[in-house]
Amino acid sequence: MDMEIKRVGIIGAGQMGSGIAQVCATAGLDVLLNDRDPNRLENGLAAVDGGLSRLVSKGTIDETESRAIRGRIKPAHSFADLGPADLVIEAATENEATKRDIFSSLCASLRPDAIVATNTSSISITRLAAATDRPERFIGIHFMNPVPVMQLVELIRGIATEDSTYESAKAFIAKLGKISTMSEDFPAFIVNRILLPMINEAIYTLYEGVGSVESIDTAMKLGANHPMGPLQLADFIGLDTCLSVMQVLYEGLADSKYRPCPLLVKYVEAGWLGRKAKRGFYDYRGPTPIPTR
Ligand SMILES: NC(=O)c1ccc[n+]([C@@H]2O[C@H](COP(=O)([O-])OP(=O)(O)OC[C@H]3O[C@@H](n4cnc5c(N)ncnc54)[C@H](O)[C@@H]3O)[C@@H](O)[C@H]2O)c1
Repeated sequence: MDMEIKRVGIIGAGQMGSGIAQVCATAGLDVLLNDRDPNRLENGLAAVDGGLSRLVSKGTIDETESRAIRGRIKPAHSFADLGPADLVIEAATENEATKRDIFSSLCASLRPDAIVATNTSSISITRLAAATDRPERFIGIHFMNPVPVMQLVELIRGIATEDSTYESAKAFIAKLGKISTMSEDFPAFIVNRILLPMINEAIYTLYEGVGSVESIDTAMKLGANHPMGPLQLADFIGLDTCLSVMQVLYEGLADSKYRPCPLLVKYVEAGWLGRKAKRGFYDYRGPTPIPTR
C-alpha cells in the first residue's frame, strides 16, 4: 500500500541532511533530525537557520513562514527518537560500513511499515537494503547539493524494493516540488557516474601540471559553459565524498578508467576536504577563496 509521508526522520545533519530537513519542513512535513555528533547536529540546525534567513532577506518567504518551517524541525538525539517517522532518510558519511551499522541498529526503533531510504551518492542500494529488516521498504533517494536549490532527485530501486515503496517515494519528492528520475542500481547511478569521472579527470589535469586550479576552472566555466569549475565543484561536494564515489566506481565496475587520482587521495589524507573543512583545491579561510595549487 502506498504511504503518504507526513513525518520524516533524517540521519546525518551535514550539508545534505540539513538541506533535506529544510526542504521537507518547507513542504509542511514534520522533521526529526539526528546526528551522532551533537555539535554537527547543532551546526546542521544553524545551517537551516542560515538558509531560511537568506530566503527571508530575498523576500522568498516572510518571517512568520520562516518561524513555522523552523518549528517543524526537531532534534532527534537517538534512533529511538525517530520511532514516529513514516520515512527515514540516511544522509550520513559516504562509507558503506558506517551506513550498514546505522541500518542494522535503526530498524528496531521504527514502525514495521516505515520506509527507509539512503541518500548515498554511489553505494549499492541492494547491498545497503540487506543490512535492514525490510529490503522491500528500502529505496535510494538521492538529493543533489545544495538541496534547497537543485531540482532533481534520483530514485534508485534495489532488487527487492516494492512498487508501493517506489510510488510513496515518488509522491514524496513531488510534494517537495522536485523532479524525480529513476535510475537502476549500478555504481553511482546516473548523475555521479557521469559527473565524478569528469571531476576526477580535472584533478588528473591538475596533478599532471596541464593547468593550474584557476586555469582548469576558468577553462571549463568559459569553454564548456559550466556554471562552476570542476575543482570548485569538487570542493563543494566534499573531497572525501568524491573519493568515495570514485572508489565505488573503480571497484564496482572493475575498470581502470575510474582510478581515483592520487592527488585527490592526498588532499583527503591531509584533511583538506573542501569547503566544509575550509580548505581543498581552494583555501576558504580568508575573505575570497585562494587556489591551493
Ligand atoms: N555533498 C554532496 O554534494 C552530496 C550530494 C548528494 C548526496 N550526498 C551524500 O549524502 C551523504 C552525506 O553527505 P554530506 O555531504 O552531507 O556529508 P557531511 O560530511 O557534510 O555530513 C555527514 C554527517 O553524517 C554524520 N554521521 C556520520 N556517521 C553517523 C552515524 N553513525 N549516525 C548519525 N550521523 C552520522 C556526521 O557526523 C556528519 O554530520 C553521503 O552519503 C553523500 O554521498 C552528498
